[in-house]
Amino acid sequence: MMEVLILPQDVAAELVARHILTLIQHKPDAVLGLATGSTPLPVYRALERLIAEWEVDTSRVRGFALDEYVGLPEGHPQSYRAVITREVIEPLRLTPSQIRVPNGATETIKDAPAEYEAEIAASGGVDLQLLGLGGNGHIGFNEPGSSLGSSTRVKTLTAQTRHDNARFFPSEDEVPRHCITQGVSTILKARHLVLLAFGESKAQAVAAAVEGPISASNPASALQLHPHTTVLVDEAAARHLS
Ligand code: F6R
Repeated sequence: MMEVLILPQDVAAELVARHILTLIQHKPDAVLGLATGSTPLPVYRALERLIAEWEVDTSRVRGFALDEYVGLPEGHPQSYRAVITREVIEPLRLTPSQIRVPNGATETIKDAPAEYEAEIAASGGVDLQLLGLGGNGHIGFNEPGSSLGSSTRVKTLTAQTRHDNARFFPSEDEVPRHCITQGVSTILKARHLVLLAFGESKAQAVAAAVEGPISASNPASALQLHPHTTVLVDEAAARHLS
């Protein structure tokens, strides 16, 4: 079942943050699926504020990031480990061991996908997965053409995604060429999927994800197969919904 809520971005972020904290109040060791990129940042800021306001104990929460670049030096400020540390772990006063990020170190990359899948399974599975949406329909780094049955694996980033993410690097050439990402089927195993998309640049991708045919050429369309997906979009991103 897919529900679509059309709300201003700040209202949507607040709603999702409140929902996550209510989940944690009921299940203190809840497992969260975390996305990087710009879209979820207002959710993380709202969480930071509300955790203090509501005095929520987050000491037993666990989390799994969706993806990581392959081959960035350890501690690189644009590695998703570093981003998650800055945007989630520190502001939410979590300890680093509570949040896992796929290991993108080149030396151990062969074993990293299976290890990550095993860690997610051992946690009991993700309760709530936050997702951003690529302009081309990617979720995680599952680019168009990704099998809907895929699990965590190493992928090549498309030229488009490298171009989109160049804003975080000194030049486009420095954007890594490979990533490790949860697969579409890994993502679909989470018990509740929460897709966020804001702004005109996401409008086509939102319409294709929500109303388009389910197809590997649009990985986000697989969310239609999930029993509980919530899509939160603003007016601009909802523009092409019928
Ligand atoms: C991030 C991720 C990506 C982004 C997507 C949208 O962990 O997996 O799928 O969610 O590229 O990025 P933003 O939010 O920056 O527009």
